[in-house]
This record gives sequence, C-alpha cells and structure tokens, in this order.
Amino acid sequence: MSAPGGDLLVRRIGRLLTMAGPPVESAAVVVRNGRVAWTGRERDLPADVGELPSLDAAGAAVVPGFVDPHTHLVWAGSRREEFQARLAGERYDGGGIGVTVAATRAASDQELVRRTVGRARAALANGTTTMEIKTGYGLAAEEELRLLDVIAAVGEQVPVRIEPTYLGAHAVPADVERADYVAEVIETLPAARRRGARWCDVFCDRGAFTVEEARRILGAARAAGLGLRLHADQLAQIGATPLAAATGCASADHLDRVGPAGARALAAAGTVGVLVPTATLSTRSGDWGQAAILAEAGVTIALATDCNPGTSWCESMPYVLSLACLGLGMRVEAAVRAATRGGAAALRREDVGHLGVGAYGDLAVLEATHEADLVAHLGAPAVRRTVAGGVPVETPAA
Ligand code: NIG
Ligand code: FE
Repeated sequence: MSAPGGDLLVRRIGRLLTMAGPPVESAAVVVRNGRVAWTGRERDLPADVGELPSLDAAGAAVVPGFVDPHTHLVWAGSRREEFQARLAGERYDGGGIGVTVAATRAASDQELVRRTVGRARAALANGTTTMEIKTGYGLAAEEELRLLDVIAAVGEQVPVRIEPTYLGAHAVPADVERADYVAEVIETLPAARRRGARWCDVFCDRGAFTVEEARRILGAARAAGLGLRLHADQLAQIGATPLAAATGCASADHLDRVGPAGARALAAAGTVGVLVPTATLSTRSGDWGQAAILAEAGVTIALATDCNPGTSWCESMPYVLSLACLGLGMRVEAAVRAATRGGAAALRREDVGHLGVGAYGDLAVLEATHEADLVAHLGAPAVRRTVAGGVPVETPAA
C-alpha cells in the first residue's frame, strides 16, 4: 500500500514549489509510474500527456508532500489529566509516559491498528506523505515488537511512506531494574530490525536515559544494522546533542535547550536538527530560540509534529509550519524547506521531500494560492488534495 505507482497530470497549478528549483507560476506536474516525470510552465507541457488521468488544481499552490520525521503515532488512551495539570502550572518531566504505556499494553492489536490508521489518515489529509513512526509505549520486548507489527499493518492500509523506529529506550518501565531494562533494549535490537525497524531512537535527557546508556544502546543499534536518531536537549542539556553528533545520528530531535556549542557539533557531523514546535507549545516550555541557534551554526533543520498523546497531539504539518514561523521565528521559505527537504534529510532520503524528476510523485494541493497564505491562515483547512505516488488520496477532507 505504501508505494502506489500511478500516472497523473496535475494541471492549472497557480504556483508550484518543487523545492528542487525556483517556484514556477502557472505550472503543471506529470507523474508516471509513481515518479515525477516532468514539471514546468503549463504552456510548455510535453505533447504526449493527453491520455493521462488529470487533477485540476484550479489555481492553487502545490508543494511536495510533507515529510514528518518524528512521530510517536502508536498509542491508546488519553493524557487529559496531565494536560490539564500543565494548564494549572505543572511542569512536563516525561513522567506521563507510563500512563500511555498501561493503556497501550491493554489495547488489542486491532484497536491499535485502527487508532494509528486514523492518525495516519489525518496526517495524509494534511499533506504528509512520508512519516517516521516510533514505538515506545510498549516498554517490554514483546510489547515493543508488537508495536512494530502495528506499524507494518498501518503501512498496508494507508498510502503513506513509513519509516519505522524502535524506541524501546523511551522510559524505564516501573517494574524493571534500570540496568536490566537497558540490557533488554539492547538484546531486542536484532529482533526489532527483523520486525521492520529501520531506526533506533533513545530519549536521552534528564529523568530519561543517560548519555552513557544512550551511547551503549546506539552502538549496539548500529551493529544491528539500524540507523540512529536521538531525543536530545528537550528538558535539559545533559550531553545528548554532542552524543548524537559523535555517534553519527541522522538527526537530533527536540533541541528546545540546544546551545551554540551543541549546534556547531551537529553542523560538523551533518546531523539534522529536528524541531517540534507543537511539543514546545504543549509542554509550555522552552524559550523558542532553537531555530535561530541551529541556523546560525549552519545545521540543516527539519520540522516534525512529534505526534504523541502527552506533549504534542498534532497530525498537521501545516499547523507546525505556522508555529515554526510565528513561534520559532523561521521565514516561510525556510519552514517549507524544513518540512519537506529537511524531513527527507533527517530520514536520509533523496526520493521524497521534493518534486525533481525521479522523485516520488507525492504532493499536496493547498487551499492557498501561495505558501505564505498557508502559514498565515491559522487553524483553517490547509490541504485540498494529497497525492501519493501519483494517486490522489481519498481522505476525509477530500
Ligand atoms: O517526544 N520526549 C519524550 N517523548 C515524547 C513524549 C512522550 C510522552 O510524554 O508520552 C516527546 O515529547
Ligand atoms: Fe518525541
């Protein structure tokens, strides 16, 4: 399901952002066998496109499908008590993860698939065509592996490209000794790979896993053939960001507390900085300076939803874009780049996040005629139609 391969002519595009060249006005896109075959001014369309199925953009702007490189999409239950406690002034410290673990363990496979499919469809309706999905609410080997099976089942049902991540090291479960749990996470890595994980992530922060524990887990993950990513500098600077750089992580994520030295380390290592402004907003923390610090150091920035029940209940990359501009102070062009090419870089992919010839024909026809209007129009329906691999997606919003 995740890689449909259609033929499509998208015509009457008012403004096309390929992110592989300058914007094109009055444009068209040709997709053949699921891949971009041609983009340009509509008046220059090749002659042989007459037989293709077509989609009329009616003057709207078109962007590459968003690439969301950080989600915790598989969960059951609610964190409404914790959310309301935060509104009353309580600080987020990661302590609510256990609530979601209990609800997730109690849920059947079918319920988890159904709920996660719903979230993936909501993301698609908002223009996301590639997303990373983490485990992390199982926190026991068999439960974590079950969540990888859920992710695979979601990929069968929803035409979104999924990058599965094993996040066994999200928290130490209540009933297990810390050292035993770190050993269990490490022992589970080969099975996680066999059950579909492509990445390993660790929540390395105050109150979560230490730098030393994360270093051991990441080293074993690399040996097991997994790519590496790291939750870093969300709650405190404990050395996670330098660790991400030193271990060759593809991305360091959150970074609410990143400083100039950490940012320089990421830049030197080619590690992408993934920012999650909806989590910064929902945790009511951070000083919103992270994008400027990363940009100043020359770090490639990606934007993500961090969709999860505790700190960032959001499937919408357009919402993230608005917050990236209005909260983090990013410019529209930089934010759109971070939500497309940046996300692809965070996942080390060349075939998504842009509409250059040969890339997947994944795109979003916006409600807006210009990307700045997408960002400025808060809380409005943002995407008229999502196309995955050249196939217009039937979504609740379509
Ligand atoms: O990315 N920071 C750690 N993990 C999640 C939140 C997990 C939770 O509180 O359920 C995050 O914000
Ligand atoms: Fe996260």
